[in-house]
Amino acid sequence: MAVQISPSILSADFARLAEAAAAVPNADWLHVDVMDNHFVPNLTLGLPVVESLLKATSLPLDCHLMIEDPDRWAPAYAEAGAGSVTIHAEAAKAPVRTLREIRAAGARAGLALNPATPVEPYEDLLGEIDMLLLMTVEPGFGGQRFLDMVLPKIRRSRELIDAHGGRLWLQVDGGVSEHTIERCAEAGADVFVAGNAVYGADDPAHAVDVLRSVAGKTGQDGENG
Ligand code: DX5
Ligand code: ZN
Repeated sequence: MAVQISPSILSADFARLAEAAAAVPNADWLHVDVMDNHFVPNLTLGLPVVESLLKATSLPLDCHLMIEDPDRWAPAYAEAGAGSVTIHAEAAKAPVRTLREIRAAGARAGLALNPATPVEPYEDLLGEIDMLLLMTVEPGFGGQRFLDMVLPKIRRSRELIDAHGGRLWLQVDGGVSEHTIERCAEAGADVFVAGNAVYGADDPAHAVDVLRSVAGKTGQDGENG
């Protein structure tokens, strides 16, 4: 598993998003949190901002949709050119159709689970997705404390993914820092979202390097190739 770092612009200055993207040229993705004030109690940005960001950076966008009715809205993010579009299992009414539409539009399809949502009911969906996102905080805000209670689910998800051929990525999002990333990597995560840990740092690019090296030291490279 190659470690990938996806800095979350939720912790950046929303008036300077192009600069926030330029500050992390060593990142693999730029994580874009779309919140609608209904699925989560916070409101951020939507498709017009994503379209502008796509023109402002060469980093691929990792769009995390924390919105109601993702079946209606998600495909447009893929059509706009996002590299990855993730919908929440708790919000989607027709996840198979929506995930297929995301893929058909040329993006990687992701499925996100809140901390209290078990992974097992979604095992049959693993063939429909390119990434499973496990929230390690309740979604809605940056800078929250990492929830250790999710670690066993990360492990169980890694086992399920490996049983399915190990092709899809396992992302963690929420409270990921140089102090918590090691636990996530050990449990089997390979894509790490970090908001506060990157944009709260004096040098965001250096923070990305630190996260990558801490995760890389402890990942399951030996076991999973
Ligand atoms: C929270 C968002 C996260 C958030 C993570 O609902 O999905 O992507 O930006 O921020 P940190 O890393 O600060 O917990
Ligand atoms: Zn997110």
